[in-house]
Amino acid sequence: QQHTPYYYTDSAHAESIIRPRNKFSHKGTFGHALIIAGSYGKIGAAILAGKACLRSGVGLLTLHIPECGYEIAQISLPEAMVSVDVDRKFNTALGSVSSYSSIGIGPGLGQEDATAQMLAKLLTEARLPLVIDADALNIISQHNDLLDKIPAKSILTPHPKEFQRLAGETANDFDRLETGRKFAQKYNIIICLKGAHTAVILPNGDVHFNSTGNAGMATGGTGDVLTGIITSLLAQGYPPEHAAILGVYEHGLAGDRAASRKGQSAMIASDVIENLKID
Ligand code: APR
Ligand code: MG
Repeated sequence: QQHTPYYYTDSAHAESIIRPRNKFSHKGTFGHALIIAGSYGKIGAAILAGKACLRSGVGLLTLHIPECGYEIAQISLPEAMVSVDVDRKFNTALGSVSSYSSIGIGPGLGQEDATAQMLAKLLTEARLPLVIDADALNIISQHNDLLDKIPAKSILTPHPKEFQRLAGETANDFDRLETGRKFAQKYNIIICLKGAHTAVILPNGDVHFNSTGNAGMATGGTGDVLTGIITSLLAQGYPPEHAAILGVYEHGLAGDRAASRKGQSAMIASDVIENLKID
């Protein structure tokens, strides 16, 4: 008999995943994350993802951003190291990525040809699961040969429109979920179908519905925050399934704390970051 593949992430399940920080730990224990994000006019997306990554417990963070974002990043995020792209406005070329413990790509990236080529190279060379969001997903949607190159267990975080570009039109929410399950199984990836009650779909087809979050999170930049959180958890050694389920849960929980302090209308993505507390 087939088991029911649907689960609900409550606080007990989230807490069972969290690994407390060992007293004798050091920066190296918590990994070195690389976030590739931002373009001219959208450097904020890189800052939000980077700050969320740091606030989720990573040991070290490097941001890869276009040259126009250099001062912005060093001033607004002094805890991060910056890897400056050769291009002024877009991310177009990465150095070696072999030393990073996790890599997240996509927020505010833009869809330039050179950026698409950089992403294709990264997908081919990366030896670890990636976090893939926003314009990185849109680029993959436009170059279907890239789907097969996505490293196993990578975590994709599409909002409904991005998922539609990726997997095609679906008739309704049920159809979307089943399409997501087939997609995750076919490509051996994890898909976080974002929205109220984000569905985290695992490579075996299991679906974990999230219990946290609120409509105050329907505001620009909250998706970028989620990318940073999940990239941070991966760097710390959480298995991809746990990084996705726990990351989505803690993102929503931080959003709920922000809403109770500020109200749903006043809260912005930065407030979600300020209310992270993963322990
Ligand atoms: N209830 C709970 N959570 C919600 C709700 C809601 N009603 N609305 C949104 N959220 C959460 C989603 O689950 C998701 O985690 O907020 C986040 C929104 O993420 P995105 O849709 O990716 O929005 P964001 O990235 O901030 O938008 C900025 O980036 O991806 C591009 O095209 C996108 O232009 C947009 C830009
Ligand atoms: Mg987004």
